[in-house]
Amino acid sequence: MAIISSKKQPQEPNGQPKQRRESAKAPSNENILQPEAAVDEGKQEESIRPQRFADYIGQKDLKDVLDIAIKAAKSRGEVLDHLLLYGPPGLGKTTMAMILASEMGVNYKITSAPALERPRDIAGLLVNLKPGDILFVDEIHRLSRMTEEILYPAMEDYRLDITIGKGSSTRIRSVPLAKFTLVGATTRVGALTSPLRDRFGLVQKLRFYEVDELSKIVLRSAQFLQTPVTEDGATEIARRSRGTPRIANRLLKRVRDYAEVKLSGEITESVASEALQLFQVDPCGLDWTDRRMLSVIIEQFNGGPVGLETIAAATGEDTQTIEEVYEPYLMQIGYLSRTPRGRVATKAAYKHLGFKPPNEQLSLL
Ligand SMILES: Nc1ncnc2c1ncn2[C@@H]1O[C@H](COP(=O)(O)OP(=O)(O)O)[C@@H](O)[C@H]1O
Ligand SMILES: [Mg+2]
Repeated sequence: MAIISSKKQPQEPNGQPKQRRESAKAPSNENILQPEAAVDEGKQEESIRPQRFADYIGQKDLKDVLDIAIKAAKSRGEVLDHLLLYGPPGLGKTTMAMILASEMGVNYKITSAPALERPRDIAGLLVNLKPGDILFVDEIHRLSRMTEEILYPAMEDYRLDITIGKGSSTRIRSVPLAKFTLVGATTRVGALTSPLRDRFGLVQKLRFYEVDELSKIVLRSAQFLQTPVTEDGATEIARRSRGTPRIANRLLKRVRDYAEVKLSGEITESVASEALQLFQVDPCGLDWTDRRMLSVIIEQFNGGPVGLETIAAATGEDTQTIEEVYEPYLMQIGYLSRTPRGRVATKAAYKHLGFKPPNEQLSLL
């Protein structure tokens, strides 16, 4: 594994990570439900991360497609097609890239688009790839134009075109590359340019996990953490995890701490629910911003429809974060719907937040 670029939070002089801007207006436990990886999560996340296909829970469609692709590539002795994985953070994109490498029996390199600013960054990685290697590029929608243009011939013809000289004496030299597989990951597939997207043979979406799948993930992770947990305890954690394995694992660790300090150590349903209540994790995994979004729509706009910009202004989040992080989950659990005229809060959202649902005539849903 070569380059790993991790987003480090700025440090305060006392060595504590700086609080994120939003936490000023929200309870301090808000971060617990953020699907992005947290700084202090790195090491433990690695020990829990599934290593083989068989340990990768859920995402049946994705696994079916990749299983066939792996078998076909192996039987023909070819490299795996370039693969684009997209979906909200924490659903298992990086994990799948690593599993693919181990299933194919090849090496992988991990990098992220912001680390590939200069042409020489990507060129250096490409020339060092061995046949069959997997190059994983996270946040691939953020590639610079120059880097992207280097990738086109590299993906298509396994060729690196280097421009030599300036002005009228410019020449292009082509260097052959080993046949490799590019695995790109993004939370914003719509932000990819079409020439780049078209060069991926496989484009796969990751979806949110069902409670029973998350519950299996919690049970599996608990084994690694050597924490006793009952099935009901795992389900209680799963229910509050926003359909996201990364959050499920994080909540498990918090609940484990609580169980060890306060009680016998075993995570039962009541222990999990007590702990998560203490950490202000909503029974459906909603955080402060989710609740604020829904209550703005309900209280100030009669349930909607209301525009994205308006919601952004009311919650202090940017429109992109709302679209990529908050809305997908709220739509998944049926609390929000997107209409051509704007966002609408559903009856289920009214009920969950303790509002009286609008009567049938006024209701749009
Ligand atoms: N299908 C899965 N089965 C079990 N654990 C998973 C699965 N997908 C993700 N995880 C867990 O969630 C964590 C976050 O997954 P990751 O692949 O880093 O997400 P992404 O790259 O999509 O943001 C991993 O450390 C892993 O432990
Ligand atoms: Mg990732």
